Amino acid sequence: MGGAVSTLVENIALLVTHEPGRAERHGAAIVIEAGRIAWVGDSADAPDADTRIDAGGRCAVPGFVDSHSHLVFAGDRAAEFEARMAGRRYEAGGIRSTVAVTREASDAQLLAGARRRLAEMRVQGTTTVEIKSGYGLSVEQEARILAIARSLTPETTFLGAHVLPAEYAGRRDDYVELVAGPMLDACAPHARWIDVFIDDGAFSVDEARRILLAGIARGLGARVHAGQLGPSAGIRLAVELGAASVDHCTFLADGDIEALAGSGAASGAGSASRGGVPTGPGGGRSGQGGTTAVPGEAPVLSGWGGTVATLLPAVEFSTRSPYPDARRLLDAGVHVALATDCNPGSSYTTSIPFCIALAVREMGMTPAEALRAATLGGAEALRRADVGHLTVGATADVVLLDAPSYVHLAYRPGVPLVHRVLASGAQQ
Ligand code: NIG
Ligand code: FE
Repeated sequence: MGGAVSTLVENIALLVTHEPGRAERHGAAIVIEAGRIAWVGDSADAPDADTRIDAGGRCAVPGFVDSHSHLVFAGDRAAEFEARMAGRRYEAGGIRSTVAVTREASDAQLLAGARRRLAEMRVQGTTTVEIKSGYGLSVEQEARILAIARSLTPETTFLGAHVLPAEYAGRRDDYVELVAGPMLDACAPHARWIDVFIDDGAFSVDEARRILLAGIARGLGARVHAGQLGPSAGIRLAVELGAASVDHCTFLADGDIEALAGSGAASGAGSASRGGVPTGPGGGRSGQGGTTAVPGEAPVLSGWGGTVATLLPAVEFSTRSPYPDARRLLDAGVHVALATDCNPGSSYTTSIPFCIALAVREMGMTPAEALRAATLGGAEALRRADVGHLTVGATADVVLLDAPSYVHLAYRPGVPLVHRVLASGAQQ
């Protein structure tokens, strides 16, 4: 992108910036320069620019931040889904069948599949994506999956502790030591984060502590899968270790909500120093509409350094489970994100708009809360200051909706409302 070229996006009926105190603007325009938001204001006052995009009275929102996905895998599990819809329960053990076919696939096949799913995400408005490993479960396989993921996004997560692989049956401790030792050594160069699936049929809280602390010591940030199949102390572990996010939270144990709500204070707002959280690409001062961006600086909007509760409603949809109590979490002051968890077992969707519709219909979130969770909430869950909002200085990830308001994302479920996606200011 040439830094000198500026683009004016004008005639935006409703612009969601997430600027504190002025999250939404009517009749707005933005100027994009060098891939960042350089100006925000009324369409009538818009400055000149080298090129213009007429939003045509559409709604513009920040690009979606999908902070939880497992895009690198082979095969699918449609038969398992069909059996579930006929009454069978979801079990973590199904992961092993995807591991078996993923191990047999070539790098080129895995990359092509992940690229296809990433393209699905992009046309549905996702501009930032996190990708986990977890379908290799050996040193070589996990490292190659992460290398593939890393070629697609900087937000990569080492999930060697997804489930115990079949060849380690009866040797749990050996596998935990493998993950915390040689596998971590091979994977850390390709990863920003480390994650553990804590649940029945996966890993215990003590096993997770061992693995997460090893990852933190290697400079990775912590994130956790917990509370999917039943209440667990995994959510408290995530807070204790200063994890950026604890994902699922379908079932909550006593004290979980208080622990999550208090996690920001424990970390010190904006410090992002616990949990081995890797240095984010953002940082810098707050931007303001009508001012010019400082190149290289992104505004810090929330400064939240606690543990985000990342809710994955497409999992509840696809496993016929109860939905998490988003209302209780939000009312208690917990920071909430929404993500797809795209994977072949529990949630084979790439659609954030679908997750927003479920969050509004089934989880008591308002459309504004759901949109915030899928943008700024996802950015908080990845400790990213530069994405998830459209204030001056932010990365110019902009989604134009074929609708006058983002409410339509929930109001018109299943309808392809994404008209145009700009990623770092560039047309996709
Ligand atoms: O996030 N919970 C653990 N892992 C995935 C499921 C993976 C699978 O079933 O293949 C999840 O839901
Ligand atoms: Fe997951």
